Amino acid sequence: MENEIIKEKKPVVLSAIQPTSIPTIGNYLGALKNWKNMSEDNDCLFAVADLHALTVHPEPAKLRQQIYEMYATLLALGLDPEKNIVFIQSMVPAHAELAWILDCYTMFGEAQRMTQFKDKSQKHADNVNVGLFAYPVLMAADILLYQADYVPVGADQKQHLEIARDIADRFNNLRGQTFKLPEPYIGKIGAKVMSLQDPTQKMSKSDTNPRASVFLFDSPDLIMKKFKSAVTDSEAKVRYADGKDGINNLMSIYSGCTGLGFDEIEREFEGKGYGDFKVRVAEAVIEEIRPVRENFERIMKDKAYLLETAEQGAQRAGRIAYRTLQKAKKKVGLIVDR
Ligand code: TYM
Repeated sequence: MENEIIKEKKPVVLSAIQPTSIPTIGNYLGALKNWKNMSEDNDCLFAVADLHALTVHPEPAKLRQQIYEMYATLLALGLDPEKNIVFIQSMVPAHAELAWILDCYTMFGEAQRMTQFKDKSQKHADNVNVGLFAYPVLMAADILLYQADYVPVGADQKQHLEIARDIADRFNNLRGQTFKLPEPYIGKIGAKVMSLQDPTQKMSKSDTNPRASVFLFDSPDLIMKKFKSAVTDSEAKVRYADGKDGINNLMSIYSGCTGLGFDEIEREFEGKGYGDFKVRVAEAVIEEIRPVRENFERIMKDKAYLLETAEQGAQRAGRIAYRTLQKAKKKVGLIVDR
């Protein structure tokens, strides 16, 4: 694939996901589904961002298991590890190395303005570590190492993409052209899936309310229960409108799973109540993720295959990353390999 990138010049797509829990349908509709859609026509790299997960001090044995599970999830989505490079971030040392160089080209003030940093520092006031602060710089390194053209993410990562571009631009201006400026790819539908219990808040892996988020490997019964208890409004009319956050969210989820537009959804549920609608949304979600769940269970049984595939992915990613790292090291005045 590395040679194909040069020969065919397909756009390079890179994205990553933290292994901190089983993905939610927010992660799925906002990012993973687009990864799969883009994976046929682009040169894609997809990573498990395990270094990013260290900022919250996960329990080590649990983290290791979660890394395996997330890697298996990526394969279970149908991302072909031969056509795409599917890898684990910490297995490619260039990420941490470039991150340090980029730290020195990132201004304290711009990192401090990141809303995710501000939110997380408030939520975890007892653990505001330097890693949390430098998190977007590591993310910039992930992207810039591969000269990515597009980065498919949910809306919450837009600001991190902007800082990645700013860092790349500053570096290029000071040291000469080194990094391509990446573009975010944010889908129209599902870019911000909201909590089922408080539809003014983003659906999050770490929500403490167990009915707020739907996880990719929840049982069909549990998914049905969660949707049935989703918060809506008192109008009892399925239509997309301001002030109907709960229904708007369910319509977006339904649209993301079925491909139907909001007009079509409104017509389908004309004269029907929210009860019917919620059941249909739950059924559509269950159907959509069933193959991923089945593949996941199969793949997790074969640890040897998982490890071997991850090692191959890391080697292929590492070869590309190394080239950019060498270039960056040279530009800043470090001694590089001959
Ligand atoms: P993470 O692990 O929090 O989320 C993975 C992806 O899921 C998207 N997402 C959502 N989309 C729609 N609705 C939601 N409720 C929702 N919640 C999450 C996120 O936008 C993301 O695309 N820092 C990144 C991981 C990362 C990365 C990178 C991404 C590390 N290096 C390089 C792109 C490129 C993160 O924490 O995502």
